[in-house]
Amino acid sequence: MNIIRVKDAQEGGKKAFEVIQEGMNKGVKTFGLATGSTPESLYSTMVASDLDFSDKISVNLDEYVGLSADDDQSYRYFMNSHLFDQKPFKETFVPDGKAADLDAECKRYDQVIEDHPIDIQVLGIGQNGHIGFNEPGTSFDITTHVVALTESTINANKRNFEKVEDVPTHALSMGIGSIMKSKKLILMAFGVEKADAVKGMIEGPVTEELPASILQKHDDVVVIIDEAAASKLK
Ligand code: PGA
Repeated sequence: MNIIRVKDAQEGGKKAFEVIQEGMNKGVKTFGLATGSTPESLYSTMVASDLDFSDKISVNLDEYVGLSADDDQSYRYFMNSHLFDQKPFKETFVPDGKAADLDAECKRYDQVIEDHPIDIQVLGIGQNGHIGFNEPGTSFDITTHVVALTESTINANKRNFEKVEDVPTHALSMGIGSIMKSKKLILMAFGVEKADAVKGMIEGPVTEELPASILQKHDDVVVIIDEAAASKLK
């Protein structure tokens, strides 16, 4: 793992942008993208840049079950408002949280990933070590699946909702097996509440109990962390 320490999320977003820019110079085509507060500084840097993504493809990690694209809590809405509306891509994929048949939607999304192999995947990490919505205990081999969100994740995400009961209980998530097939991974983590998960990911055993620990087995990972997220590392 190439571990880059930064002052704060702002500087972290700029570092991640540099990795993306380098990839663009090498002709990468498909970006795996993430939502949440972590990648916001990367997306604002992309929006402010003069890079042109109009021939690029994006494939997002996950979506809440039950939320439509025009719901302002949906991840499709997040991606449109934080990035795609200002920086158009050729084509953008996010799982459909309103699909009538969720199993069929998972299969469709696996086909999307197969048709568009991901060159660079952007990741955040949950306080419990999840990547995407792959919660602790999820098989490392899994592809797109329906997830029952853990209490930890629901509590972490309730800040974006009026009340905790409004947080969806289920999501669709790209699997760890698919994430690991991406050619390059950029994982960002900012804030002390991520320190335990970051320590486990980097220094702990590779275990399904801490999904991000599998990144130790990938040969091209850039980890961008601020002082607080790095505070428990040896
Ligand atoms: P956050 O979420 O960026 O909102 O902290 C990260 C994650 O849960 O993967």
